[in-house]
Amino acid sequence: MEVIQKISRLKSLSKKIKSLNKTIAFVPTMGALHEGHLNLVDIARKIGDVVIVSIFVNPIQFGPNEDFEKYPRNLSKDVELLTKRGVDYIFTPEVNEFYGENFQTYVEVKEITKYLCGASRPGHFRGVTTVVSKLFSILKPDFAIFGQKDGQQVVVIKKMVKDLLFPLKIIVSPIIRENDGLAMSSRNSYLSKEERELAVNLYKGLELGSSLILNGERNSSKVSEAIKNFLNEKNGIKIDYIEIVDKKTLKPIENIKDEIMIAGAIYVGKTRLIDNISLYVS
Ligand code: PAF
Repeated sequence: MEVIQKISRLKSLSKKIKSLNKTIAFVPTMGALHEGHLNLVDIARKIGDVVIVSIFVNPIQFGPNEDFEKYPRNLSKDVELLTKRGVDYIFTPEVNEFYGENFQTYVEVKEITKYLCGASRPGHFRGVTTVVSKLFSILKPDFAIFGQKDGQQVVVIKKMVKDLLFPLKIIVSPIIRENDGLAMSSRNSYLSKEERELAVNLYKGLELGSSLILNGERNSSKVSEAIKNFLNEKNGIKIDYIEIVDKKTLKPIENIKDEIMIAGAIYVGKTRLIDNISLYVS
């Protein structure tokens, strides 16, 4: 296992791997790794000859009042976890080299970034698509693995790959949850004991919505209202959004049908958490 910082080293390594006719499976992360990330790594290990994980807290996907500075960073623990999981290379570029002087080129997916998290975090997805496309162009992976917890990110990245003809396959792994159902997230480490107990209600609320749909409710306003009422009863939770959307277009829907996603974002104290449940409704 080698930890690589320099872009030039990774570029030449990727060239060498390709010349040996081996495939690269890539897992982009911002570090502070948990079982959710390690599950992506396990998938990468199964499908690719060489597994590369990037650890880079990408400044341009954070808004001015967001948590870029305090985002959890623990490189030595991450390296240990990834080594145990059989990763071949870890790429940890420095911000100064990665964006260079006078960086001014961005990749932006328009329509589908207006909804859900895109509405509350302007510029966030532009930061994500820019960093991911730059990572793709440095590494030239054959596979890139993303987690469904960031459900909108998955749709946005797939659209970018399709529109810009990146020659790779996107693999999506299911949400990995704690025993009580809370979706694993690096930001869970911000939660106090009391906040951690409250946080699971996002999943419980989405589950409530899901069971209403499975029991026949097809009016999305009724389902989202039920989830909001459930969450509003909990002192200490502030809803950012609860939406029922078409899973492909991410457009909010009125009549629940076909492939849908019940998506939510809440604040527990100062911590913003997201989660989603996908359903196929005939
Ligand atoms: O999902 C994340 O951790 C980030 O958005 C990603 C894809 C690593 C880009 O910085």
